[in-house]
Amino acid sequence: MNYRLLPIVLLATFGLAVAAETGTATRAPNAQPEIDFPLDAPAPDGRRPGGTITHEFTPPKLQDDENKDVRRERNYPEQPPTIPHSIRGYHVDINGNKCLACHSRANSSKAQAPMISITHYTDRDGQTLAAVAPRRYFCTQCHVPQQDVKPLVENNFQNIDVLLQHELPQDRQ
Ligand code: HEC
Ligand code: HEC
Repeated sequence: MNYRLLPIVLLATFGLAVAAETGTATRAPNAQPEIDFPLDAPAPDGRRPGGTITHEFTPPKLQDDENKDVRRERNYPEQPPTIPHSIRGYHVDINGNKCLACHSRANSSKAQAPMISITHYTDRDGQTLAAVAPRRYFCTQCHVPQQDVKPLVENNFQNIDVLLQHELPQDRQ
């Protein structure tokens, strides 16, 4: 190849590349990308079974949180207990933590609420702090209210007591 022509070849290639770029830029900025699947494709059967991708369902009605004030059984000892009371309007932010108004060490006796356990005072290095550990500050990351609704997915979880019962020899059951 004649190297004296190299700059010209390079310039031409660059020019072509720029032209190609501006070519696409002339498309309307909010044009829809081309979709190559049929719009009536069946929707994935997950929490929204049936229908098609574009089919809109009426969402189920919002239910009230269960508010019976009775502590629920835990499925295993490490489970964060579910919240047995309403938490509507309880703020947890930079200015304050409504949950701790009842569940902190000092307030739990006044509110007759169970005190947050020692794990809530322990930081990630295993140090026990004087106040609730930052990683346990946002209570609803782990603790959630419950609603009396049909479960979205089937669940055949069996707790340890049931499993141990199966392990027992027949004559001791
Ligand atoms: C006005 C006081 C009060 C406030 C505020 C409050 N709680 Fe409670 N909480 C209680 C009481 C009392 C109980 C014991 C069961 C009952 O009476 O509902 C309880 C029970 C619980 C339990 C069940 C504990 C167990 O061992 O089963 C959890 C979890 C809980 N609360 C989390 C929270 C969270 C998270 C917040 C903040 C969003 C919060 N609570 C705010 C008073 C309160
Ligand atoms: C990172 C997850 C996590 C966060 C955040 C968290 N908890 Fe817990 N909580 C747990 C787990 C797990 C348990 C059960 C085992 C234990 O005590 O550590 C528990 C237990 C509890 C209990 C029952 C204690 C007992 O001895 O019966 C209460 C009450 C509680 N949490 C309240 C709160 C409150 C209030 C906050 C916010 C200040 C909070 N938790 C933040 C995970 C969390």
